[in-house]
Amino acid sequence: MKVSIFGLGYVGCVTAACLARDGHEVTGVDVMASKVKRMDEGLPTVVETGIDEIFAEVKSQGRLRATTDGRAAVLETDVSIICVGTPNARDGSLDLSYIKATANLIGQAMMEKSERHVVILRSTVPAGTCENVVLPALHSDNPYSYLFDSDLVIVPEFLREGTAIADYYDPPFVVVGTASGLPDNNREVIQRLFGSVTDSIEWVPYREAEVLKAICNVFHALKVSFANEIGSFCHSVGVDGKTVMGLLVKDQKLNISPAYMRPGMAFGGSCLPKDLRMIVNLASRNAVDLPLLRSILPSNDAHLRRAIEMIPINGSRKIGLNGLAFKSGTDDLRESPIVIVAEHLIGKGYDLKIHDPAIEVSRLGGANQDFIEKHIPHLANRMVSTLDELIEHSEILLVTRDGDVISERAADLGRKPTIIDLRGKPAYVKKPMPMLENILQHPATKAMAILKQNGNGNGRGNGEHARKSANGRNGRRNSAVAA
Ligand SMILES: NC(=O)c1ccc[n+]([C@@H]2O[C@H](COP(=O)([O-])OP(=O)(O)OC[C@H]3O[C@@H](n4cnc5c(N)ncnc54)[C@H](O)[C@@H]3O)[C@@H](O)[C@H]2O)c1
Repeated sequence: MKVSIFGLGYVGCVTAACLARDGHEVTGVDVMASKVKRMDEGLPTVVETGIDEIFAEVKSQGRLRATTDGRAAVLETDVSIICVGTPNARDGSLDLSYIKATANLIGQAMMEKSERHVVILRSTVPAGTCENVVLPALHSDNPYSYLFDSDLVIVPEFLREGTAIADYYDPPFVVVGTASGLPDNNREVIQRLFGSVTDSIEWVPYREAEVLKAICNVFHALKVSFANEIGSFCHSVGVDGKTVMGLLVKDQKLNISPAYMRPGMAFGGSCLPKDLRMIVNLASRNAVDLPLLRSILPSNDAHLRRAIEMIPINGSRKIGLNGLAFKSGTDDLRESPIVIVAEHLIGKGYDLKIHDPAIEVSRLGGANQDFIEKHIPHLANRMVSTLDELIEHSEILLVTRDGDVISERAADLGRKPTIIDLRGKPAYVKKPMPMLENILQHPATKAMAILKQNGNGNGRGNGEHARKSANGRNGRRNSAVAA
């Protein structure tokens, strides 16, 4: 394919080299003439293991050139990949001015083309950038109509400097963000460009792809800081941290695994909070400051408060809580976050009933009993023995487990309680058309609807521009208007 790559830094240079090596005809574009000159002379703009060899190979085959003329590069290629920088602004947000400038330039040049031109965003950007920044710049006439048949995808880059070439050819996955969240009519382009590097292409809505790359980096930063704090703590108690961490990562069942990695309820139980307090306490007695570990319990408390804030204050007083122990299948109530939720509701005077099949109040003993008596006196009066009783009681039903079973059972019983999933199931549900309101509100969409009503829905004037506006810029039918 003929590909133009905007931004010839680490990502752009490596992408340009690898795509050219894979047989594509690549034009690099940058605003820095010195980088363009280097690449056009067959030299990489960055230092990376193995990149000199690739440049030498592709130079001899004439598949890689560079220019400062972005417009010409768009006109001469089928695909543009945006790899420009997104540095931090002063307040920590990302400065998207290079993205905007590049998308504007590409959009202007696309106006001059009648063939389909696909734009791939590779820079790291905040959620919403495709919809709110790039599409409006690419299609200034009616950005949101293109969500239905978009020529924009985001494919975040996961390479690491130093091993960038190896990472390019062996990525953990290729994630493609599209308007619909599904493979769309850009699928063939993606397959041709990236199909050779992986069998695993994940298709998600724009926003998931946008957010993923930054979240991966946050996780890597968290891992490094965790390992460093553990190393410091171990050192302070005369233990070899490297040995401990070496063993920790050998547990691929609970430690290095998807376990504990799903957003949900706050943690609790008899072990996690207790042992965390012990480590933080010991470290502070040894004068070792561990801000990351110290912040875990406050973070958990904040998460629990967010769960409590989900409970509506709408006048309903009869409330049901499904689950009480910190996880299902155990009657251990010690430090269960759900007990704290129950205590809060009782304190606020709600008529609370609780169902947890694992708990038999008469069998609770020892520390378990002490804990619950402190937080929920007369627990037995609050417990109901079946889910049906809980549903029958509740105007508001709080779910901490088995969510689908409960809503189905409530429907079977003909009850319609307000169901709140305290595990934080997102209010935002994946929508294939994320910005429908914007699409319908956009002046161009409204204008087209009026034209259509008047029996003139095939254009908004004479000539090529009108044809493109009605049918989508590249002559494709504009589904927003046609719908
Ligand atoms: N460096 C990495 O390891 C890495 C890895 C994954 C993702 N990313 C992300 O990829 C993006 C690029 O990162 P990078 O490290 O390659 O950046 P970089 O700063 O090395 O290069 C960016 C290039 O874009 C050019 N540029 C700026 N405005 C331009 C415009 N209007 N037209 C053409 N070129 C323009 C700059 O001159 C520069 O050469 C960033 O969003 C970054 O967060 C970086």
